[in-house]
Amino acid sequence: MRIEIPREVERFGPIKFHDVQKVWELDAGLKHTKNEPKEKERRVITRVAYESIQAVQEEMAIVVPIKDEKIKLLEGVLAGIPHHCQVIIVSNSKRTPVDRFKIEKDALEHIAKFMKKEIFIVHQKDPKLAEACKNAGYPHILDDNGLVRNGKAEGMILSTILAYLSGKKYIGFIDSDNYFPGAVYEYVQEYSAALYAAKSKYAMVRIAWHSKPKIVESNLFFAKRGRASEHTNKILNSLVSSYTGYGTEIIKTGNAGEHAMSLDLAMNIDYSSGYSIEPYHYINVLERFGGIVGSPQPEIMKQGVEFYQIESRNPHLHEVKGEEHVKSMSREAMESIYHSPICPDHLKEEIHQDLISRGLIAEGEEVPNTLRYYPALTKVNMLKFKDTLKKTAYAEYLKADLKDYKYINGRNGLMREKVVTTDHLPEKHEKLEVK
Ligand code: GDP
Ligand code: CO
Repeated sequence: MRIEIPREVERFGPIKFHDVQKVWELDAGLKHTKNEPKEKERRVITRVAYESIQAVQEEMAIVVPIKDEKIKLLEGVLAGIPHHCQVIIVSNSKRTPVDRFKIEKDALEHIAKFMKKEIFIVHQKDPKLAEACKNAGYPHILDDNGLVRNGKAEGMILSTILAYLSGKKYIGFIDSDNYFPGAVYEYVQEYSAALYAAKSKYAMVRIAWHSKPKIVESNLFFAKRGRASEHTNKILNSLVSSYTGYGTEIIKTGNAGEHAMSLDLAMNIDYSSGYSIEPYHYINVLERFGGIVGSPQPEIMKQGVEFYQIESRNPHLHEVKGEEHVKSMSREAMESIYHSPICPDHLKEEIHQDLISRGLIAEGEEVPNTLRYYPALTKVNMLKFKDTLKKTAYAEYLKADLKDYKYINGRNGLMREKVVTTDHLPEKHEKLEVK
């Protein structure tokens, strides 16, 4: 892959937001090619060779969350995921009256005969997984019935634990309702290229779609960005500029469902529920590492956290889920910014007005507070989690080496080095200052 280096970078304490990067060539060959003996060029373009991309993918888990999607779509998505990734499907599909999960499993078994890929599937409501959460000291994602809660975020959190237990270094997410296997393939290549180029161990990459095809007056129209995204990005950028004092448009991937990160980062951030999980990545990194409300993890503060945004080439086409879906997604994104302890009052006012003017809440109504927050996964006792799952069908995939793993005082030492987490941030902070 040949990719331009980020033109702009916005710094916020130890956090770096890189501007959107354009892909010039989807495939830029092997390390040694006839006319290019070296892999990386040091000017404005980076060439990432096959070998380097493959090396990252050998250490990457790709999570596919699924809830009652068409099997044909899932098949296409699986066909698009590069071979070396460990695929984890986390399903919350219906079990009655038709057992959709069983259909998914059957389809997977059938596919597995044709492609020799490392894939396993779990159901979000599997009592064994709930038991594992409980035993491992992470009951936070369980509901009143003692099972893992509904929601894409909850499925993603669960699969992050499974990716850790699979011994992977990176985790990427691909929605199961994507119509283009070619786009899926491209996203994973881009995740890998960005994570390969990242300087910090705490890095995240998010896809900014080049375009979204729509039919407008019986012609194809390629829209640049979704409607919800415009608003989320604007408010996130206002949040950044209210501290730096400079206007910015750096964030263009506030709602990016397509994203990947190092597990070191994934284990050290808090999560929020439902569809707010993606914008909350930005917010939580600012909260935890922005230096506004204390710096809990000196090691991460030293290395810094990096955000990359890559503009994909394939158009993005997924299932249309209707107006209500887009509305609630947008409202949840706004909610997660509004209720952050680092959201200044003037921005709260702006969010409130924005929600009213878009008809997402009624005049005179307060900004709702419906989200849940889940503490970082450093709280999970991985030994106990793994032990609870030892008789499951997918136990063979959980091959992380936990030989030197330590769990001390309710916190775990990460596999590559010891990093501890703090508890979730307090609700309110009196004085906010950028250090
Ligand atoms: P959008 O693409 O962001 O508008 O949202 P979608 O409704 O398409 O959801 C994104 C992905 O998450 C799709 O692949 C869904 O099938 C999946 N998904 C939605 N809800 C859940 C859930 O509760 N659990 C799991 N595991 N996946 C879900
Ligand atoms: Co979708």
